[in-house]
Amino acid sequence: MDNAELYEKGNNMQKRDALESLQDYADKIKWKQYGARILDIGSGDGTVTTRILKEYTPQNYKIIVGCDVSEKMVQFANDNHGNERTRFILLNIENYPPKELMGSFDHVVSFYTLHWIKNQKSAFMNIFDLMTEDGSCFLIFCGRNPIFDVYRTLSKRSIWRPWLENVDRFISPYHDSEDPEKEITQMLDNIGFRDIYVTCKKKHFVFDSADAIKSAVKAVNPFSIPSELYNDFLEDYLEVVRRMRIMDEANNNQSTVKYEYDLIIVHASK
Ligand SMILES: C[S@@+](CC[C@H](N)C(=O)[O-])C[C@H]1O[C@@H](n2cnc3c(N)ncnc32)[C@H](O)[C@@H]1O
Repeated sequence: MDNAELYEKGNNMQKRDALESLQDYADKIKWKQYGARILDIGSGDGTVTTRILKEYTPQNYKIIVGCDVSEKMVQFANDNHGNERTRFILLNIENYPPKELMGSFDHVVSFYTLHWIKNQKSAFMNIFDLMTEDGSCFLIFCGRNPIFDVYRTLSKRSIWRPWLENVDRFISPYHDSEDPEKEITQMLDNIGFRDIYVTCKKKHFVFDSADAIKSAVKAVNPFSIPSELYNDFLEDYLEVVRRMRIMDEANNNQSTVKYEYDLIIVHASK
């Protein structure tokens, strides 16, 4: 999942959701109108940061910093999207951030990243510490998502077991939650966040071909499958998808499939 070129080709669903949520929650976010300092956690290839987020922030912002745990992603984002007011840095949000970044951001945002993080409390405490005293955060990440059931099924097949042994590492902590909204609200409240808003939204995305699904799978696949086995892995993946009836035909078109999942949306102030 650190191949920026592959991610750029297969991230239509992530881009659509970032755009829709920024539109839907613009009133709640209340962007600082002048001189805003914005941090985007898990900025990946930098497309969402620079093509979507930037469109929704007041144009008088001071700086947008994207951060990511992957050196390759940071390099790609800086090479392709960096400029005097946009830069990308290496930062693992699970670890204690450098002192000079503490209390520095009026808005901390994150798109499709926080479900990768096992130590949720530590990540949310760091987000809190990175915000200015009157700062706020806007975060979207995966809740229940059928992709995680596919991972689990594939991990039981002997051919894929060696590479999917640590499958739980890549399953959202909220995939099996009874009440993710309550769980997250409680955690944020304990940390000290105010004006907490958490919702778990039912979403769907329509893929128009098997190739579009493969491209989306390749964009986020976290497992190091050897290249000579990669096509077999993708075929098996699609076979599991069909067998589990995860994707239903949409619009009576055999090659169009509808994929349903829950997206968690969080807004909170310090
Ligand atoms: C699915 S991509 C999302 C990229 C972008 N935000 C978007 O919406 O298109 C998730 C990104 O989170 C990064 N990531 C995963 N764990 C992280 C961590 N602990 N700290 C910072 N970034 C992390 C990954 O390297 C990856 O680039």
